[in-house]
Amino acid sequence: MDTSTLRNRFREQFGTSGDLYFSPGRINLIGEHTDYNGGFVFPGAVDKGITVEIYRNGSRKVCLLALDSKDDGYQEFSLDDTEKPSAHWACYIFGVCKELEKRGVTLGGFNAAFTGDVPLGAGMSSSAALECAFAFALNTMFAGGRVDKFELAKIGQATEHNYCGVKCGIMDQFASVFGREGCLIRLDCRTLEYEYFPFDPEGYKLVLIDSCVKHRLGTEYNERRESCEKAVALMNEQFGGVETLRDANYQMLEAVKADLTDDDYRRAKYILDEKERVLAVCDALNEGNYELVGKKMYETHWGLSRDFTVSCPELDFLVETAQACGVTGSRIMGGGFGGCTINLVRETLYDKFVSKATREYSRKFGVIPKVYDVTIGDGSRKL
Ligand code: GLA
Repeated sequence: MDTSTLRNRFREQFGTSGDLYFSPGRINLIGEHTDYNGGFVFPGAVDKGITVEIYRNGSRKVCLLALDSKDDGYQEFSLDDTEKPSAHWACYIFGVCKELEKRGVTLGGFNAAFTGDVPLGAGMSSSAALECAFAFALNTMFAGGRVDKFELAKIGQATEHNYCGVKCGIMDQFASVFGREGCLIRLDCRTLEYEYFPFDPEGYKLVLIDSCVKHRLGTEYNERRESCEKAVALMNEQFGGVETLRDANYQMLEAVKADLTDDDYRRAKYILDEKERVLAVCDALNEGNYELVGKKMYETHWGLSRDFTVSCPELDFLVETAQACGVTGSRIMGGGFGGCTINLVRETLYDKFVSKATREYSRKFGVIPKVYDVTIGDGSRKL
């Protein structure tokens, strides 16, 4: 990324220059909504993210410049404030400061400016990139890097929970901090054990098609989580030992079906299905069986659409178009309700698919979808 504009704006605003830090967005091959259910996910960091320039200012004040914000691009708060700042984007940084302090880090004031090339609201975790860029930078500046990487990811997650109203899992922040070039990461969200999987499928490409339906996760996302928790509570009451849906099986779910709403039952069932799909995809990747990986991606999409109910007509249309075109795998990526589909496509089909999807989507919805080729990059770092 070209950092000259960031450098110039920082100097103009604050009269000094500072250090640069970067944290990426992420893709996820499979394992959607499994993270907060104690399951597995399969993300990787992308080569796009948030870059922050930052400098201590010797006071208790935090002065922030968001280069990409249209109207409220400058915000200030004091580290002693208890009220959140007025701009939503500044709450992420406020939250990161509070969560670091909760963990015993003594912060000082700072001036910071940031910009990003990860699209907002496209399901690629721009918010996790923002949280992790600041968590990483502040940890380096004020704690000598003492807070470990797991805790940095948890600080990002806690920021979402406590300051931004999203009861998210750990996947996005984990991928942003732990990303490694060329590798996907299989993460067990219950134990936080993880393994890097080199991902370079010969003859295939990963491409994202952005429906341009913007989403900000909130109530609807939290409702999905509540559905899962209701199913867990009933199964735990009846069988014991069910802390998350990771501990549940189909027989247990059937046993409590009558006490669940149809929505809650189907959402819990999707999670059980997805749990098996992620493991099947790991095996398929080990065997180089990309056709099977793709088949599972489609299954995930229709599970997310029909059972977990986080799709929308635009995303379903993109997946149907991919399927009709012979694309190996295609599905919603991320929380849902808009954003991108992730597509595993044979190189020989790539041009045909991208032009067909673009043409047909624009004809139907009057919007030209954006296309992003995926390059898997490294996680949070100082530049
Ligand atoms: C969002 C959340 C993640 C995860 C995904 C769905 O990206 O932040 O924790 O739940 O949705 O897999």
